Amino acid sequence: MTRTVRVELGKQSYDVRIGDGLMGELGAAVAALPGARQAVVIADAVVAGLYGSAALASLSAGGVGATLIEFPAGESHKTLATVGHIFDALFAVAPAIDRDTIIVALGGGVSGDMAGFVAATALRGLRWIQCPTTLLADVDASVGGKTGVDHPAGKNLIGAFHQPSAVLIDVRTPDEYATGHLIGALNVSLADIRENAAAWAARLPHDIPIVLYGTDTTAGHEAAALLLTAGLPSVFSLTGGITGWDAAFGQGILYAP
Ligand SMILES: NC(=O)c1ccc[n+]([C@@H]2O[C@H](COP(=O)([O-])OP(=O)(O)OC[C@H]3O[C@@H](n4cnc5c(N)ncnc54)[C@H](O)[C@@H]3O)[C@@H](O)[C@H]2O)c1
Repeated sequence: MTRTVRVELGKQSYDVRIGDGLMGELGAAVAALPGARQAVVIADAVVAGLYGSAALASLSAGGVGATLIEFPAGESHKTLATVGHIFDALFAVAPAIDRDTIIVALGGGVSGDMAGFVAATALRGLRWIQCPTTLLADVDASVGGKTGVDHPAGKNLIGAFHQPSAVLIDVRTPDEYATGHLIGALNVSLADIRENAAAWAARLPHDIPIVLYGTDTTAGHEAAALLLTAGLPSVFSLTGGITGWDAAFGQGILYAP
């Protein structure tokens, strides 16, 4: 079953499609964009190894010429230096990219932010499609068109708003689900939890742990404290990977404040 959520932004509106096996429809999704004949997939090395060939095969089956550009995985590589290397590879693609080339961001939030920034700036702006592969990217980073990189002075200090032409969420890809430990995910802001802690505490299940997962430790801890005070019995706040939590606590629901 595929669900489609329309993001209404006037001329910049786009569909977020959520379903099983949607990676196989990437080629058709690119081919459906007017004038698109060439795509460049940008993924970190881990994700390129897991899903790079499936993405290229789908593009090729859709009649779209495709190239894969890899960068080293991890937040520490979400930098202008990495973007520079991606540009080097992008401008060496043959045949040369043009304004109809589509960028495909394949991976977690780091790939999405960085590939989106490349799309926002290469040739003064190319269309792009997001294929998120982590839960955080599914429920948060793939929506809203925020792109960019970190700077030594702080996180996400350099960037641009650039809406994608489509988002394809293949629910087979996040490995967090593959363990069977996480049974749901939702994106809730800290502001929402501050305002409605009692309502969230009443609404969330009390018989399984709730994991608050995000990149901001302070926000996660504040949200956890508010929910605990409001009566939710089991709340954890994590940043980074969730593997240790999986092993220790079994099933739960993940939120990304
Ligand atoms: N643009 C936005 O609106 C927005 C919102 C929230 C977060 N973010 C950004 O997202 C980033 C964090 O995202 P993240 O947690 O997805 O990090 P990430 O992209 O670095 O992915 C985490 C790790 O998981 C690996 N990985 C990705 N998909 C996988 C899969 N299916 N199976 C196995 N391994 C996989 C990656 O290689 C990486 O090593 C931060 O840089 C944050 O700033 C952006």
